[in-house]
Amino acid sequence: MARKRVAILISGRGSNMASLIEAAKVVDYPAEIALVVSNRPDAAGLELAGKAGVPSAVVDHTRFGKDRAAFERALQAVLDEHRIELICLAGFMRLLTPWFVERWSGRMLNIHPALLPAFKGLNTHERALAAGVKTHGATVHFVVPDMDSGPIIAQAEVPVLANDTPETLAQRVLAVEHRIYPEALRRVAESIATASAP
Ligand code: GRF
Repeated sequence: MARKRVAILISGRGSNMASLIEAAKVVDYPAEIALVVSNRPDAAGLELAGKAGVPSAVVDHTRFGKDRAAFERALQAVLDEHRIELICLAGFMRLLTPWFVERWSGRMLNIHPALLPAFKGLNTHERALAAGVKTHGATVHFVVPDMDSGPIIAQAEVPVLANDTPETLAQRVLAVEHRIYPEALRRVAESIATASAP
């Protein structure tokens, strides 16, 4: 069965991107990482992608000013050029318009560093510590127009320890992110393959 062609969208470090690239090296993995796209030319993940031999592109949002639609049309053109079938957002720090999100409905995943629906948005680790929760974690979900709100595909919990700082907690969460994102992508790529089989 043909492997699904995936684009990973990043804005920075790219550690989740690297875990997806690594997972996709496994022979029976149902997806291939065909492209990495960054909205920032200086994203560290671009270099990692290059070293891994994955094609990359930059669609710099600052070139489009406040025109989100123009940015997304440029992004869509790059995805079309590479015949992309699934998108994984991995630390991609742009809000996407309903036009783009609906176009990729059921085919765009995101990873969020919290146990959704708890702690949507930014600074999740600081907020989890401030709230005094005993359990925190990460979620992979489908992207819908409302931020951090789509159907959940995978979640993993980590304990919050008494002496945690946002940094130590982030590190513990990141370790499980790197496990669940490849698992979630595997599941989605397999289900899409089944759905389109004759
Ligand atoms: C991760 O914590 C991810 O959950 C969040 O942004 C961070 C990106 O880290 N959406 P990286 O670029 O994948 O290392």
